[in-house]
Amino acid sequence: MNYLSETIAIESIREKASERDILIWGAGNQGRGICQILQDNGIALKGFVDRSQEMIGKRVMGLTVYGPEILDTLKDIFVIISVFFYEREISKKCEARGMVKGEDYISYSQLKSRDYSIDVSGACNLKCLSCPRSSRLSEERSPGFMSLNRFEMVLDKIKSEDPFVGNIQLYQWGEPTLNRELPEMIQYAHKKGIKCAISSNLNANVDYRQIIEARPEWFRVSASGWGKNYEIAHTRGDWDRFFKNLQIVSSLRNEFYPDMKIELYYHLYKHSTGESLHKFQNLCADYAVEFHPVYAYLISLDDVLAYKEGIPLPPTAVKASEMMLFDLDEGLDMAFREASLPCDVFRSIHINWDLSVSNCMMYYYPEGNTAADNYLDIAIDEIMKRRLTCSLCKRCIRHGMHRYCGVYSTRDLNIENLISP
Ligand SMILES: C[S@@+](CC[C@H](N)C(=O)[O-])C[C@H]1O[C@@H](n2cnc3c(N)ncnc32)[C@H](O)[C@@H]1O
Repeated sequence: MNYLSETIAIESIREKASERDILIWGAGNQGRGICQILQDNGIALKGFVDRSQEMIGKRVMGLTVYGPEILDTLKDIFVIISVFFYEREISKKCEARGMVKGEDYISYSQLKSRDYSIDVSGACNLKCLSCPRSSRLSEERSPGFMSLNRFEMVLDKIKSEDPFVGNIQLYQWGEPTLNRELPEMIQYAHKKGIKCAISSNLNANVDYRQIIEARPEWFRVSASGWGKNYEIAHTRGDWDRFFKNLQIVSSLRNEFYPDMKIELYYHLYKHSTGESLHKFQNLCADYAVEFHPVYAYLISLDDVLAYKEGIPLPPTAVKASEMMLFDLDEGLDMAFREASLPCDVFRSIHINWDLSVSNCMMYYYPEGNTAADNYLDIAIDEIMKRRLTCSLCKRCIRHGMHRYCGVYSTRDLNIENLISP
């Protein structure tokens, strides 16, 4: 897809909007990005659809968030599916209601061919057990921070090559709050019509007020366990600091930006179920934070691919995999069974703090994973061309590893059973 076909897609939505109610399924970062682009193009929208109880009934970007039942009550609707890993599941739900792809619904990836993530911080304050920053300590990428000036140049290039980008994520391997210019970056993104997502361990003593005042659209908080349990997988993390910062962030949200989505992304290990899980569920309800538990996985795909290729896991990854609730080999088998499905992240362009571009955002180590040394010097079409022929991609797909993160992120879970087995 290119600029022309994206323009055609937007024009066809405009046409549909004159006769039907347009709904965006997903009130998170992707959905808000699409909303921004459609609103900028003067297209009237009915609202968002989201399954999250914390979101339903709220207003986001001036629109109501409905539960999925709205599809049964409205007659002439057109749905834009705007979620990252759940596109297939939601498509099935639409089809079960007799809706036809292209006619009655489209997916976000049909409308917008590329997503961007910018790791504005190349440093992290923690060494989480499942992260390559701990397993690959000796090969760690050089730490550093993207400057505001470079960030502005990156966004200018993104907008000139992909004018329909309405959202970006400002993290991947680093802790974004450590970048002192993060608030100004968020503000600059707004000037360019782009909404920002950040994900934080909330374990840094930084000025959260300035960050929230800059109004990031989506704030993910990562955690795994209550009290001392938190510190097992979030290695070097301090529970009291985390807890205090969560209270601060939620009260700043209430003060400065009630529409900001805070999602508590809770990593499920054996030690973070039961009482820990229950307390977190209640805590999120008390602070009006969306609770999103997920099965923890080894996020170091470098290690997992090597494992599939016959190289033993490094010690920290072994330790993490022993604590995982959803077994590594089982997850890899499930991913392999889906190997014929496309890769969810090929559409994502990942720019590191030093401006290098990764072939794949899910791999940390730069060797064999660098599509460009400097994003600013190379046209996006050339970057995409290089990524198409990348040998890391071929190795990953051969093992079905491109489905691995999705398998863990979308696997159904029953919270009540995990609280009291
Ligand atoms: C490596 S973190 C870096 C960003 C930030 N420092 C943080 O902690 O949120 C990037 C994302 O990976 C997710 N993540 C980290 N470990 C994970 C695990 N074991 N399973 C699932 N997701 C994980 C985090 O929740 C976060 O959204």
